Amino acid sequence: MRNEKMDNNKDTSNSQSINNNNDLDKSHVSWKPGTMIYPLPAVLISCGNNETEYNLLTVSWVGTICTNPPMCYISIRPERHSYEIIKENREFVINLTNEDMAYATDWCGVKSGKDFNKFTEMKLTPAKSELISVPIIKESPLSIECRVKEIVKLGSHDMFIADVVNVQADSRYINLKTGEFKLSEANLIAYSHGHYYKLGEEIGKFGWSVKKKK
Ligand SMILES: Cc1cc2nc3c(=O)[nH]c(=O)nc-3n(C[C@H](O)[C@H](O)[C@H](O)COP(=O)(O)O)c2cc1C
Repeated sequence: MRNEKMDNNKDTSNSQSINNNNDLDKSHVSWKPGTMIYPLPAVLISCGNNETEYNLLTVSWVGTICTNPPMCYISIRPERHSYEIIKENREFVINLTNEDMAYATDWCGVKSGKDFNKFTEMKLTPAKSELISVPIIKESPLSIECRVKEIVKLGSHDMFIADVVNVQADSRYINLKTGEFKLSEANLIAYSHGHYYKLGEEIGKFGWSVKKKK
């Protein structure tokens, strides 16, 4: 019988088998269709609109889908404890994760809120959101308050399409003079093919490829 950890891993660590042995001779091989876009974020989603209901789950199927109005999505399997909570309240928070939160990020992705109070177990602090009743994680460098607009049934996962209604940023990363948010100093983590990574060295910035050399 598969355990929960294996199921989670199956979602985000796609092992592949080569379709055909002849493929081995080629410079590229064909794999069966799969979800192979890496690296991914591994964020902590908070949910629940009262203390007894508060929960956290780790999600990698998360992304931005529109700039204006600002919109995001998360995809969740209906069997997750958090699924009904989010479906019922139609609110959630996307909390970005950093190195200090890496252990909790993995743990909240293999344990269920059915069995644990994950905030307490991971010593994370629920703090007030500005516009919704779901708490942010105080330790997160950036928390995105979302209100669900639409739930799309896709198959294994349902996609929660949401409006971003507010963003809370840890002021430690804000340059008070310029107002610039230095997320690069937050030690954010990424998830790739079943492994967690710290972000590496900067290798360029937006538009540098076309910038005229002096
Ligand atoms: C790195 C990582 C990414 C995950 N991504 C997703 C995801 O995108 N969607 C999902 O439904 N579950 C995902 N999971 C699994 C859930 O976080 C996990 O089943 C969790 O225990 C659910 O908690 P809950 O039962 O308290 O809701 C992921 C787990 C890990 C470790």
